[in-house]
Amino acid sequence: ESVMKILSIESSCDETAAAIIEDGRCILANQVYTQIAIHRKYGGVVPEIASRNHVMKMPYVVQDALDEAQLTFDDLDAIAVTKGPGLVGALLVGVSEAKALAYALDKPLIGVNHIEGHIAANYLAFPELEPPFLALIVSGGHTNLVIVKDYGTNIILGRTRDDAAGEAFDKVARVLGYPYPGGPAIDQAAQIGDAQAIDFPRVMLEKDSYDFSFSGLKSAVLNELNHRKMKNIPYKKEDVAASFQAAVLDVLTEKTIRCAEAYGMKKIVIAGGVSANKGLRTRMDVAAKQHNWALYYPPLSLCTDNAAMIGARAYYDFKLGRTSSWDLNAVPGLEL
Ligand code: KG4
Ligand code: ZN
Repeated sequence: ESVMKILSIESSCDETAAAIIEDGRCILANQVYTQIAIHRKYGGVVPEIASRNHVMKMPYVVQDALDEAQLTFDDLDAIAVTKGPGLVGALLVGVSEAKALAYALDKPLIGVNHIEGHIAANYLAFPELEPPFLALIVSGGHTNLVIVKDYGTNIILGRTRDDAAGEAFDKVARVLGYPYPGGPAIDQAAQIGDAQAIDFPRVMLEKDSYDFSFSGLKSAVLNELNHRKMKNIPYKKEDVAASFQAAVLDVLTEKTIRCAEAYGMKKIVIAGGVSANKGLRTRMDVAAKQHNWALYYPPLSLCTDNAAMIGARAYYDFKLGRTSSWDLNAVPGLEL
């Protein structure tokens, strides 16, 4: 049986990315052009600026991927692209590029769900990893606990009711004066700060719920900072970062453990930008030892947005017959 080479494109937020993936598991090329430096001065992603930069960079990123793999368009078997969720204008750049390529080259087009892509980052890092497993997805836009039953079936057990985990990191970082994106800055600060300095709320919701809520925690951090500024009570930024992060990690770890126990899952996968968090990885490593889990999280380069994970997921979508037609459109609010 011959191998399948998929060119994949990602442009859902502020990374312009293209990759070439063989049979869903092997990275032949992985090019990421990040716009972080462009958006930093605005304190967050400006959608219109993101779209414009995707337009400017996309053809070069695609060519760089081909060059990296030492391939030409003729060597490709399919074109994949993130169809959602994400910023609509940003998504449309990738979708248009992928459609144009697939049409011109007469190859199949595969629209991929970005969240499923994050999960598939682990397929690239761990060739032996196969469903079923329990996945905790923690990114800038999403927080989900889901049983990946097989390559085509997700059972969603929990989702955020307000802010995503990464969103909370970014908002708290912003009020602490850290540059965008704040997650990595909080992660670093938390390593030297005192996690017990401030007792922030751990919002667990109903006893049997696997949903999340982080907006109350975010408000608690803002209120604490305002209170201290008004009363001239000194504080260390690092302590606030560490205390905030500990509250997030307590909830994420506790809910994952509960969920794994309730459903008898021993194979646990973490994915999404926040899975880069050192504290989260350490906490999950400890939980894995205690509960006898086989635990998987991607290398740092595959945690945040990239096209390699989209190409990995696309392979399984293709095998399931889930190809797209020429009316493929961006779906900004696409769910898992
Ligand atoms: O998956 P991702 O690149 O984009 C989305 O699909 O949303 O996730 C980006 C999010 C941002 O909120 C960023 O602050 C967060 O992941 N992040 C982190 C870390 N690295 C990235 N959060 C905590 N600790 C980190 N080390
Ligand atoms: Zn993402």
